[in-house]
Amino acid sequence: MSDHLTTNATAPVADPAHAHPFTDRGDYRSAIEQTRQAAASYYTGSNLTMDDATYDALIARITATEAAQPRWTAVDSPTQVVAGIGGDVEHRAPMLSLENCFDDDSLRTWATRLTKLLGRPVATYTVEPKLDGLAVCATYRAGRLVQLATRGDGRAGENVTGQARLLAGLPAQLPEQVDLEVRGEVYMTDADYAAGNELRLAHQEQVFANPRSGAAGSLRAQRPYDVPLTFCAYSAHLLSGPQLDSHSAAVTYLGGLGIATTATTTAGLVVCGSIDDVMAAVARLGAQRGQLGFAIDGVVIKADLLADQDQAGQSSRAPRWGTAYKFPPDTRMTKLLDIAVQVGRTGVITPVAVLEPVHVGGVIVKSATLHNFADLELRDVRVGDTVFVRRAGEVIPEITGALLEARPADAVAFTPPTVCPRCGGDIDRSQKRWRCARGRACGQRELLLYFTARDCMDIEGLGAKILDMLVERRLITDAADLYTLDAATLAALDRLGDISAANLVAAIATSKTRPLSRVFTALGIEMTGRSLSRRIARHFGTMDAILAATIEDWLRVDGIGDGRAASIVAEIAEIKPLIERLADRGVNMTEPGSPALSPSAQTGALPLRRPDGSPMTVVVTGSVPGLSRNESNEAVETLGGKSSGSVSRKTDLVVVGDGAGSKADKAIELGVTVMAADRFTDLLTAHNSGDRATVDAILDQAFAPAG
Ligand code: IVH
Repeated sequence: MSDHLTTNATAPVADPAHAHPFTDRGDYRSAIEQTRQAAASYYTGSNLTMDDATYDALIARITATEAAQPRWTAVDSPTQVVAGIGGDVEHRAPMLSLENCFDDDSLRTWATRLTKLLGRPVATYTVEPKLDGLAVCATYRAGRLVQLATRGDGRAGENVTGQARLLAGLPAQLPEQVDLEVRGEVYMTDADYAAGNELRLAHQEQVFANPRSGAAGSLRAQRPYDVPLTFCAYSAHLLSGPQLDSHSAAVTYLGGLGIATTATTTAGLVVCGSIDDVMAAVARLGAQRGQLGFAIDGVVIKADLLADQDQAGQSSRAPRWGTAYKFPPDTRMTKLLDIAVQVGRTGVITPVAVLEPVHVGGVIVKSATLHNFADLELRDVRVGDTVFVRRAGEVIPEITGALLEARPADAVAFTPPTVCPRCGGDIDRSQKRWRCARGRACGQRELLLYFTARDCMDIEGLGAKILDMLVERRLITDAADLYTLDAATLAALDRLGDISAANLVAAIATSKTRPLSRVFTALGIEMTGRSLSRRIARHFGTMDAILAATIEDWLRVDGIGDGRAASIVAEIAEIKPLIERLADRGVNMTEPGSPALSPSAQTGALPLRRPDGSPMTVVVTGSVPGLSRNESNEAVETLGGKSSGSVSRKTDLVVVGDGAGSKADKAIELGVTVMAADRFTDLLTAHNSGDRATVDAILDQAFAPAG
């Protein structure tokens, strides 16, 4: 199979229109066999043998071959039958698959074909997430769940009724005594995937390559422990009860019965009147991918009216009234070239995979985290292996496992370091995350550089050279010592004259007035970046509140879960003396504008708050004069707004500067309020100087009704 595996940085061709047909019939047959094996592991959740992109590319080549050589078409080709393994439960009607499209052109072609088939325009379309899990069919009799079966080969599936209790979103008892068949997807939320993999590691089992294999493996397997799963319905067949005439009405009805549906997910279901509206909805969902809390591998578009669906009909494999718009896969295979060992600012030592570059989820990935050394051993990943790399949303790409059957004879098992690679000191192995026994002292230089950086305390003129001299001469050991330096001491350093020394002292003094968000960021606490630090500072308002916070208090901060909370609390306890010395030396420890300081007074005065006090969602695109990207986001939050990376109908304001791209076009297309970057800086200046009249004038102009 290896000659078909694409492991370079070019995304494999998934669209049959652009795929190369096989010229040899034997190759065509062997490709069918490979897809059958890959589908078997896909549907059982056992170790993956192929990534989705490679699978789709093989299907595309098989399809292209059959178009070129129709007489070769095999009856068991994946283009003719639904892939999967059959079972004992025969479905009332076959559970079909969906045809795919991969770009706007092929989506339009599908819509044109459907319109021709109907002989009239499609009345309305629905657009909903394509959940990346496995299809099941649930049967209710008189409101009781009596059977749950997998799709299997489409004709018959496996009975998994015993596992139904694991599924959130699929109640055992409905409030109405209806006879009903519900079809949908079983999937793992991102949080359940992380928790499920922790459980597997604790039981010395291989982790799941992605949430989809996690869902498939957990639904079918009997294990001594339960992994939570979620159900989401995407179709209903009412055998009794009301007559519904559209897909959207059926989904709404299911939601009313307490069954989770595509419409009740964070992605939602949209009804569209035209294919242009469909495209806009597809683009919106694409932009939200990664922030939904669960994996989607595309968007499903359907003719909404059952009358349209009935008339369009279906082939043996897929309906003609629906299609799947596939997104780039978030899990790919590539070669593991090396394993590097990285030492973080605070001394945490982690293995990092050096990869043959590969396209994942739309970007080229060259390195990925291997989490920690215990994980690395359990995942049994070796240099030379073909590995699965997963990049979901904004998270750091991770290696989830190796393709064991493709392991070369000379693949090298990794030998973890015995001493800290940075300072040669001992390693503390008492936790899963290894750390240099010297802890933050090992990363002293990196921590100081980070503390003074532009997005942190922003101390101009204090670069690596001066910091190194200060450390070498033992004038400073940590950040708090910076605030004891005087001009005479600095002027005595090589190459630093009186004027530069005086400027530096002034810059250090100015940095004492930075808001708490900057101070907190500058401390370089593990697992807290700039944006989370801003959220933390706004949430707590003062450093005293941060120092006093319990794990429960931390869990109330948006984006902080158990693991992160415990790690932050431990690190804050460790650096409490440093924080106290910074405060003693006059460094500001409060966050202006934080609702925690004075809830009513603060929210009323903030320009980017809605009348109910909630923050407006603001996207900054292009450059804002005088502000870095981080500073622009800070400014949004100072003004009371919430900064976001993607434009949707829910966005309140888009700030457009030089170099703005498609986000600005999208804002205009969606009718979202747009503000020029220089007006935004005027707004910030007016707000900071308390000039309420100018603030109001700028806001009135921006949000004035059009026309
Ligand atoms: S409708 C007749 N809607 O995708 C087929 N399918 O690639 C009706 N899937 O087998 C399927 N999300 O397992 C539909 N919102 C959604 C879906 C969805 C995921 C799965 C389903 C289907 C596969 C086709």
